[in-house]
Amino acid sequence: MRDWRDVHDEAAAADAADPLRHLRGRFALPEGVAYLDGNSLGPLTHAARDAVRRCVDDEWGTGLIGSWAEGAWVDLAARAADRIAALIGAPPGSVACADSTTVNLHKALHAAVSLVPGRRRIVSVRGDFPTDRYVTARVAADRGLAVRQVDAGDLPGALDEDVAVVALSHVDFRSARIADLPGITAAAHAVGAVAVWDLAHSAGAVPVDIAASGADLAVGCGYKYLNGGPGAPAYLYVAPRHAAAESPIPGWFGHADPFAFGEAYAPAAGARRFEAGTTPVLGMTALHAALTAFDGVPITGLRRRGMELTSRMVDLTDAHLAPLGVALRSPREAAERGGHVMLGHPRAQELVGALAAGGVVGDFRPPDGLRFGLAPLYTTRVEVVRLVRELAGLLA
Ligand SMILES: Cc1ncc(COP(=O)(O)O)c(C=O)c1O
Repeated sequence: MRDWRDVHDEAAAADAADPLRHLRGRFALPEGVAYLDGNSLGPLTHAARDAVRRCVDDEWGTGLIGSWAEGAWVDLAARAADRIAALIGAPPGSVACADSTTVNLHKALHAAVSLVPGRRRIVSVRGDFPTDRYVTARVAADRGLAVRQVDAGDLPGALDEDVAVVALSHVDFRSARIADLPGITAAAHAVGAVAVWDLAHSAGAVPVDIAASGADLAVGCGYKYLNGGPGAPAYLYVAPRHAAAESPIPGWFGHADPFAFGEAYAPAAGARRFEAGTTPVLGMTALHAALTAFDGVPITGLRRRGMELTSRMVDLTDAHLAPLGVALRSPREAAERGGHVMLGHPRAQELVGALAAGGVVGDFRPPDGLRFGLAPLYTTRVEVVRLVRELAGLLA
């Protein structure tokens, strides 16, 4: 086994030679903390802090209601949505930015069911994120459909002409396993079903070419890898061919002309009709600004960096943690893994607490999971080494 000094020095040298090392400077990370939980809550960017201060002091504080009329806020959601669209390979106008992922999934599933009338089932994946399972069950019940939950690997065999919608996460929130976005979408289409994807744990960490994948609708989170801030607005993608799809919430902000205060509801063109109520301006300002952290960053370079970080973590786990009883719960193949790594140990909760007390922040996921987000915009190799070294120290 290599000496920790050598392991650290090699990581520090690789960090120093990294062409994307400057990106960390876009974040206001606290000194001395190894923040490995950006897949739960992305950290503060300098851009978001400045924009929110400006919004509070100038736009809200001084401009008051006039800031709507002056246009600072009217198309803010659309501008944030277009930044997200660029990140997930969606054409401008095909993404709405609003509400939470939960609410957007509710809207997307209703819209999806309406696209394929007369069918009897929604197929989803066992163990998917709780909100996805709860919302899928609710929408299915409301629309008179059954839900069939299957293991991800059994999806193709569960598809037949009774299936209306296939709904699943692109990257699994526990294992980080990447699902075959284009392949599963094509299999859904082959039986006449539509595919609705949850990109919460992929966008910003893993390349997503949503339009090329053929996906029908997708939703995702603003506060994880997009760093939009706690409770940031989420997003909803609708393939341009479904531009006439209907939102189940015909709110005034999804109207073609909200400020005409028209008698009848006339939906806005494209995804914008999936906005429901007034833009949450402070949160949207933070998200809109935070998305500049991706400016000029090639997504392929980011993915390469992310895979290197998680591979380093897997290698160090094999060498230093496996002998101490820690199990790897994420795929061993880098190409099959998203931006986080899940480990398993019976004392996971206590270990995550002890790590945090020492300045290494990860997540506990019941019953025995230790989850670490290695965000390719700002996590360093040295932080990965620190994590494994401190975890090994706690276990020894
Ligand atoms: C995969 C996945 N979907 C949805 C959500 C919930 O998102 P929101 O809180 O925006 O409703 C989460 C939150 O962690 C998630 O991990």
